[in-house]
Amino acid sequence: MKSQLEKLLAPFDQTHLLQFWNELDNAEQANLAKQINALDLELIQTLFENQGSDGQWEQLAARANVPPAITLGDFSNSEAFEEASSAGEGLLKSGKLGMILVAGGQGSRLGFDHPKGMFPIGPVSRRTLYQMHFEQVLARSKQFGATIPLYVMTSPPTHEETTKFLSENNFFGIPPADIKIFCQGVMPAVDENGRLLLESKGKIFVSPDGHGGTLAAFVKSGCLDDATSRGVEHLFYGQVDNPLLQICEPALIGHHLIRGSEMTSQVVRKNDPTQKVGNVVEVDGKVQIIEYSDLPRQYAQQLNEDGSLKLWAGSIAVHVFTLDFLKRSSQSADALPFHRANKVVSFVDHDGTQVTPTQPNAIKFERFIFDLLPSANNAIVCEVAPEDGFCALKNAPPATSETEEHVKAAISSLHSRWLEAVGATVEPGTQIEINPLFAVDQKELESRVNRGTTFNQPTYLK
Ligand code: UTP
Repeated sequence: MKSQLEKLLAPFDQTHLLQFWNELDNAEQANLAKQINALDLELIQTLFENQGSDGQWEQLAARANVPPAITLGDFSNSEAFEEASSAGEGLLKSGKLGMILVAGGQGSRLGFDHPKGMFPIGPVSRRTLYQMHFEQVLARSKQFGATIPLYVMTSPPTHEETTKFLSENNFFGIPPADIKIFCQGVMPAVDENGRLLLESKGKIFVSPDGHGGTLAAFVKSGCLDDATSRGVEHLFYGQVDNPLLQICEPALIGHHLIRGSEMTSQVVRKNDPTQKVGNVVEVDGKVQIIEYSDLPRQYAQQLNEDGSLKLWAGSIAVHVFTLDFLKRSSQSADALPFHRANKVVSFVDHDGTQVTPTQPNAIKFERFIFDLLPSANNAIVCEVAPEDGFCALKNAPPATSETEEHVKAAISSLHSRWLEAVGATVEPGTQIEINPLFAVDQKELESRVNRGTTFNQPTYLK
């Protein structure tokens, strides 16, 4: 077996993967052989050698403008808003909308010992991210009297624990027939010389292949067929780490339908030129995203005449796709390119010593779902106020942004504003949390809370 593997690896200068072969037991050898046989060595070599041309992003950024964006939420009386909401509600009632929730990331910055979706984030209830999202899906489905099939993407490192956790919690009320948990693929990482890294003597280091892995995994797992057989025509896509995610928001879906968009993206106005969100831009008539790490500073900092940011639209990774567009994209192997990221990866070196570097030592390859935008017909962009729709949980203290504390405060502040908007008073500093099954949005809250009520104690409305 060893010599066969050597033959496979030698043309790509990767035979070091077999360096500890004789120290492995039979099961370990079989596992390593399985991993090696599954590698696409040609692809890895190409990805390593293809570093992108110098100035590629600079050239793109120089031609970039922000696409016209539809503003959501702040004109609730306008005709356009009513028209969009009613179109979105129509789709929800017809049962032709499904939801993809991606949760395959490893949450390395958060340093939580479980999949990120299991993080207790409810400021009063301590509900987990999963519970918050699942209850919102359920609330929307009750609101419109139709099923919203839910597709949750995990990855090999998060799959088992997530599946166990969700089934032990009865999927937080979602009927098991309406939920599918599917697992994304992985990619290995290489060192500065393009050599694959070993995580241990008998195991090649691999990590999830990015949220763009959704496309291939959605098809391979049979979820696309499942959605098709249920008559789903559009899919709402969101990420597990944003508890302010406005799941299946009717106006967003309505604009997507009215404009005949194949892919609609929600954006926020960036609060800082270098904010760590993808920059949604339009180049040569095509909507696309330039990742924050790829946008040269001088372009990020460009201002309009009135002093506002020129490239202001930050992606919050909320999209609506037509099923047909996902199907078409999945048929093209190159629909999503791989991006390179320099990361810290602990590995076993040539003497068998376990090394944990402090500086990035590895190149990881990941696909991003937003790279589908330029190939979508009639792609549109909708703006939401960040305090209404986006506050992602990314970091652990001592970081000063996107931490548990910030996210809890953002949830409480949003729900306090809803209460105040319907005529209640929330005393400063009072923690508020509203379960979507009590009221999924401000409009529903109107009929649930008496005007003039005062809240001065931590309150969880459920
Ligand atoms: P991030 O890129 O922020 O990664 O993912 P992360 O796992 O949350 O955190 P770090 O970077 O390791 O600290 C944004 C969203 O995309 C999902 C994550 O689960 C999160 O919801 N994601 C990311 C995947 O589903 N798969 C991936 O391969 C990467």
